[in-house]
Amino acid sequence: MSNIAPVGLLLLAYALGGAEAGARYPDCSNGPLKSNVVCDTSAAPEAPRQVSNSPGFSKLGLSAYQWWNEALHGVAHNRGITWANSGSFSAATQFPQAITSGAAFDDGLVEQMATVIGTEARAFVNAGRAHLDFWTPNINPFRDPRWGRGHETPGEDALRNKKFGEAFVRGMQGNDPKTRRVIATCKHFAAYDLERGGSATRFNFDAKVSIQDLAEYYLPPFQGCARDAKARSVMCSYNAVNGVPACANSYYLMDTTTDNQYVVSDCDAVYYLGNANGGHRYKSSYAAAVGAALEAGCDNMCWATDGTAPDAAAAFNQKQFSQDALDRAMVRQYQGLVKAGYFDGLNGMYRNLGAADVSYLALRVAQAGTVLLKNDDNTLPLTNLADGSNSVAMIGFWANAADKMLGGYSGSPPFNHDPVTAAKAMGIKANYASGPLNSGVDTSAAVSAAHKSDKESSDRSSIAWPAAQLSVIQKLAGLGKPVVVVKLGTHVDDTPLLSLPNVKAILWAGYPGQDGGIAVMNIITGIAAPAARLPMTMYPSGYTNQAPITNMALRPSGPYLGRTYKWYKDAVFPFGHGLHYTNFSISTQFPETFSIQDLVGSCKEMHLDLCAFESLNVTVTNTGPRPSDYVVLGFMSGDISNVIAGQAQAASLNWNLRSLARVDGSGNQILYLGTYTLLLGRPTVASVAFTLTGTEAVLDKWPQPN
Ligand SMILES: *[C@@H]1O[C@H](CO)[C@@H](O)[C@H](O)[C@H]1NC(C)=O
Ligand SMILES: *[C@@H]1O[C@H](CO)[C@@H](O)[C@H](O)[C@H]1NC(C)=O
Repeated sequence: MSNIAPVGLLLLAYALGGAEAGARYPDCSNGPLKSNVVCDTSAAPEAPRQVSNSPGFSKLGLSAYQWWNEALHGVAHNRGITWANSGSFSAATQFPQAITSGAAFDDGLVEQMATVIGTEARAFVNAGRAHLDFWTPNINPFRDPRWGRGHETPGEDALRNKKFGEAFVRGMQGNDPKTRRVIATCKHFAAYDLERGGSATRFNFDAKVSIQDLAEYYLPPFQGCARDAKARSVMCSYNAVNGVPACANSYYLMDTTTDNQYVVSDCDAVYYLGNANGGHRYKSSYAAAVGAALEAGCDNMCWATDGTAPDAAAAFNQKQFSQDALDRAMVRQYQGLVKAGYFDGLNGMYRNLGAADVSYLALRVAQAGTVLLKNDDNTLPLTNLADGSNSVAMIGFWANAADKMLGGYSGSPPFNHDPVTAAKAMGIKANYASGPLNSGVDTSAAVSAAHKSDKESSDRSSIAWPAAQLSVIQKLAGLGKPVVVVKLGTHVDDTPLLSLPNVKAILWAGYPGQDGGIAVMNIITGIAAPAARLPMTMYPSGYTNQAPITNMALRPSGPYLGRTYKWYKDAVFPFGHGLHYTNFSISTQFPETFSIQDLVGSCKEMHLDLCAFESLNVTVTNTGPRPSDYVVLGFMSGDISNVIAGQAQAASLNWNLRSLARVDGSGNQILYLGTYTLLLGRPTVASVAFTLTGTEAVLDKWPQPN
């Protein structure tokens, strides 16, 4: 043990510094530390233990601590969290998964939702049932429709994910300048969006990404989450980026964590960084892998199940990492806890939070995130269902199976409202049918096919409707009655449904959470109006043959058609598509010219990309028959297409210079001269043109790799 350096003195200085103002050494004879074990020279030094399941440091009085807690859409069942069997802490609000809450395009709602999640999470912590660190949110852009974890994210757009992540972190951590409610973690850094693509797996995939795509697409959500919203932690991902595993990549880790966030590895990522079978084989031993991670700025190694636990003490003894790296890791990890009031005692802020009253917010988010994809002949809403004069057949594997609505990383909801139960509660004559209509169809296969689709550690091979389910829909559409299809999950290509005249309407609910059934029935019956937008491109099923999942490029080249609405042009439904029960017009007024030098010169922000641009005030008029929300999406078009998207109910689009900038081949954000056209609505309802004059300005200079 003797060659193991004692750890934690830096931490102690941080936590207790100032107790002996002006003193060079703590007073171990008469000062407040005299009976603390830190002053006990006979106590053995403790080994570094930079693992997620930390046994603590007894010399410092730091108890065991599980850094691994999850709350992607509500407090989840997960290592660090202990649920009660009944009563308080046997349930927590289960909101829609991010793909659905993201579809609401409403940052204010996201912040409210995350405030509830953070409040409940903190109540679990206060009750001794969880720890302060939550590895949430997942903000990787949903690059490929096959990705098994796409539903954990708010969708395919970098700017949307940036805004969602910022709002989520503000909600989780709270807005108090001194104390965080809990600690949020931006994951997975970076370019992680593949579980299993042919011979590549997430444990050994080397994502080849151009600097331009990194700066423009893969990294902005992390810049927003870490730099701007100040999440206290970042998770490095399994994959490598351009030859270097993310958790050993100091270029990315040190440049991102500019606010001294601690970095945690994804679980077992450090194991797969070394010489483990199926991994990167980036280092020749596990100890060398641990050293590479610690040196690069990965401060804590999550260990789940694969291999043995990473042994930081052994790696330190082998001189695989330096004392400086160890000190940095300790400071960054525990600094987060200091900032979340871990050392503030019983009267610290947020220590009073108990099981919270969250009323109907989960329902509101589910309604706000449900997208009306198709509505021929204004078939929806069905306003006369509840009067008992009509009956409805509800068919399908999730109509009365509420557990399908939650998605990955779920906890236990206080209740679980499936569509059939919701319909019956509304007085609707609902027949839940699966027998005769499903004859000849192997529904168990359909269920398991759908169940297998969106899942951690497996991607899909197909984005077509499962054949068994399509066959049921085709049979129903042949009966001569109007059919409404309600879709769960992420991507399936609706092309075969669009050619069935009796499939009058299609709703997409994603993973709508504990109130998903009520949300869907409220929309079907017109109690609520749909206003959400598709947060990802709906690709035709043949896309999977044209775009290998391992191709990270956004831009098309040759037979490769590119990715996302910015580059891919043959969508079945485009990103931002979403119908309403009414019609809208938009009017606006905007200046015609701006000088780049005035815009940049008058800005007081530390980072030029955050400088505000003139707010665009829009008036949205509902010209149709029903009240409804409306999300004003703005798409920037010009010589190079570029999005700015924002949400505004009926007021103003608040944007900044980043919204107008483009990223050059070296990753720099540049505000170019030229005429810009902002297209409002999808499809375009109004447009605004303006010109930037002067000379181009660099808003953010991208650090170049060595
Ligand atoms: C919206 O306007 C179009 C074109 O006038 C019309 O066909 C459609 O029925 C309207 N939708 C609603 C819900 O009123
Ligand atoms: C938009 O509205 C704000 C607040 O009313 C106002 O200050 C601003 O000048 C308006 N912008 C334009 C371009 O009219």
